[in-house]
Amino acid sequence: MQKFLMEKGFIFPTAEIYGGMAGFFDYGPLGTEIKRAVKELWWKTWVSGRQDIIGMDGSIITNPKVWESSGHLDIFHDPLVECSNCRGRFRADSLLEKKVKGQLDGLSLEDYAKLIEEYKVKCPVCGGKLGAPKWFGLMFRTEVGSVNGNTAYLRPETAQLIFVNFNRIVKTSRATLPFGIATMGRVFRNEISPRNFVFRCREFEQMELEYFFNPKQDCPSGLLESVADLKVPVLTREIQEAGSKAVKMPINALVKKKHTSSWHAYWLGKSLEFVMSLGLAPAKLRLRQHLEQELSHYSKDTWDIEYRYSFGWKELAGIADRTDYDLQQHAKASGVDLSVATPEGGKLYPHVIEPSFGVDRLVFAVVEGAYQVEKLPDGKQRQVMKLPEAVAPVQVAVFPLVSKDGMPEVGREIYNILRKKLRTFYDDKGSVGRRYRRQDSVGTPFCITVDGQTLKDRTVTVRERDSMKQTRVKIAEVAGWLERRTGG
Ligand code: GAP
Repeated sequence: MQKFLMEKGFIFPTAEIYGGMAGFFDYGPLGTEIKRAVKELWWKTWVSGRQDIIGMDGSIITNPKVWESSGHLDIFHDPLVECSNCRGRFRADSLLEKKVKGQLDGLSLEDYAKLIEEYKVKCPVCGGKLGAPKWFGLMFRTEVGSVNGNTAYLRPETAQLIFVNFNRIVKTSRATLPFGIATMGRVFRNEISPRNFVFRCREFEQMELEYFFNPKQDCPSGLLESVADLKVPVLTREIQEAGSKAVKMPINALVKKKHTSSWHAYWLGKSLEFVMSLGLAPAKLRLRQHLEQELSHYSKDTWDIEYRYSFGWKELAGIADRTDYDLQQHAKASGVDLSVATPEGGKLYPHVIEPSFGVDRLVFAVVEGAYQVEKLPDGKQRQVMKLPEAVAPVQVAVFPLVSKDGMPEVGREIYNILRKKLRTFYDDKGSVGRRYRRQDSVGTPFCITVDGQTLKDRTVTVRERDSMKQTRVKIAEVAGWLERRTGG
């Protein structure tokens, strides 16, 4: 998949002409369009499409006190081991992953050392002896201004900017509980071993929502009902501790069986609904609750949506119950009261559920899931990406059958109408069969061909990517026809 994405110019290592840089990637024209579409869809679904959620945009570098108070400067680290022979540096848990079954996140340095000894783990490069594990901080450091020592950090999550601006946002938008604040943007983590292409990189984008509520009040049943029947395999803490397999259960069973709170279950459902709207197959999705030792310092309960990538089940998104940890920490450190008035009277520190998505991981899952090599009736094969229309980088391509007889002129006329509404591409080079194949391989759901008949009756053929069915449509009606098919 990585080779395909690079060859087609979706995503590639940054500055390849200089040999790239581990953990950093650039997006080409097609990748950029998918990424923008995923972000737009998230914003439309979760912010502009809802009355109870507002948006904000925070800065990448902020006052370093934010990261002291949030705990990131002290606790945001991974276990590092160094080879005593070649000096290679590796993540201890990643090296152990290949040998030890079960969760390896959140162990102590002593536990990692014991496991390395017990399983005789050696340097994966030269086979040398590994040194004692130590913590490696993931925050990228920089200096601000002309004065030396004015240290600041690139944000490792977008969420903190919501907490530190909470007062001003609540006052200016007159939000009342329950309500959410959403944001998206670039974050940076100095990962010890970036790998699996954009799955684990050092610079990536997040889309995060903090949904604030009164902890004494449950999620209204009407909201919960809207996602109650969504069913995926679930790995609760108990199931994992018993070493059992995932059990398929609906979202409302998580509340009924007291696996999690009603607000948490609601946002697990909404998050699943969102990733499914991007075309991710339910059979490749599951929910996994974090074990006690895995929980981040701010979390009381976290569930991951895991996706079955080509390299195994991995975290796609995390949905955490951060309680009032962050607001309390910032209130204590800044001396500013961050409590809010409740509709019933009185004030409280709201609790918060945080659905957090990595955009790059999501785009990777969407393209991996959509990519297929299909056998055609004539025995040939085609590469096709069955992307949902909403996120296809090109939604419609326009081809004149041949570059003469006035066909390019009509093609351009259609292209100029459609591109105002849809991501449209015009192509008049090579055989039409090749042009169809090229568009299939990058996920274009519709191709329009201008041919001899067009010149007689102003109709075109619209070919659908998945069925390869061709329909004759009047030029005057083609925009409406496509809009109906792409959901507007
Ligand atoms: N605010 C909570 C938070 O940042 P996280 O689990 O550390 O939680 C949230 O990150 C999401 O960000 C993950 O579920 C994943 O999708 C994405 N993510 C985390 N680290 C990443 C990395 N190194 N490269 C790409 N995406 C990453």
